[in-house]
Amino acid sequence: MVLPDDPKYALKKVEEIREMVDNDLGFQQAPLMCYSRTKTLLFISNDKKVIGCLIAEHIQWGYRVIEEKVPEVSSENEKVIFERQKAWCCSTSPEPAICGISRIWVFSMMRRKKIASRMIECLRSNFIYGSYLSKEEIAFSDPTPDGKLFATQYCGTGQFLVYNFLNGQHQTLL
Ligand code: COA
Repeated sequence: MVLPDDPKYALKKVEEIREMVDNDLGFQQAPLMCYSRTKTLLFISNDKKVIGCLIAEHIQWGYRVIEEKVPEVSSENEKVIFERQKAWCCSTSPEPAICGISRIWVFSMMRRKKIASRMIECLRSNFIYGSYLSKEEIAFSDPTPDGKLFATQYCGTGQFLVYNFLNGQHQTLL
């Protein structure tokens, strides 16, 4: 875990990784709300490569995703395609939240090995000293299709919390 007060070399490395993650995500990510309060988790492989990154920030509010019904006749594969293609909508009523996942990324060759799940578990026990965050206290920043599928599985519901949406229009209100 890299914290804002860590040595410059560590923060520089985190910045490089964040740029690479943002490029990989392929679109401009919402800026971090407050650099001095972010926590970055890096997942390092046995051969000392960064294969996972999670950047978390303090937030106050999240908005619940409104689930759209998957067509009933779909096979598992069709369901995933449907999930990937559909836009997501969320409620406009804020709900209290504590931790915002601003970025979560796993190296493409290492996906589906529970690395993202392990990083979130680690985040939940380390975000606030002495407390273990519940899944209800976590929100995802403007999730990608992969992020949506992951969050739905991890949270055990498609109605997880999100923040930083609407092209930044609401960002100043959050
Ligand atoms: N499609 C369908 N289900 C998925 C999924 C996908 N692409 N990714 C995760 N899941 C679900 C699965 O049910 C998975 O369990 P299973 O493999 O036993 O079926 C469960 O979530 C746990 O996934 P996990 O292995 O912990 O996730 P991961 O290490 O593969 O990382 C991401 C998930 C989203 C971080 C990774 O796909 C990624 O880096 N994507 C590119 C960056 C990105 O889009 N980040 C999200 C920003 S919101």
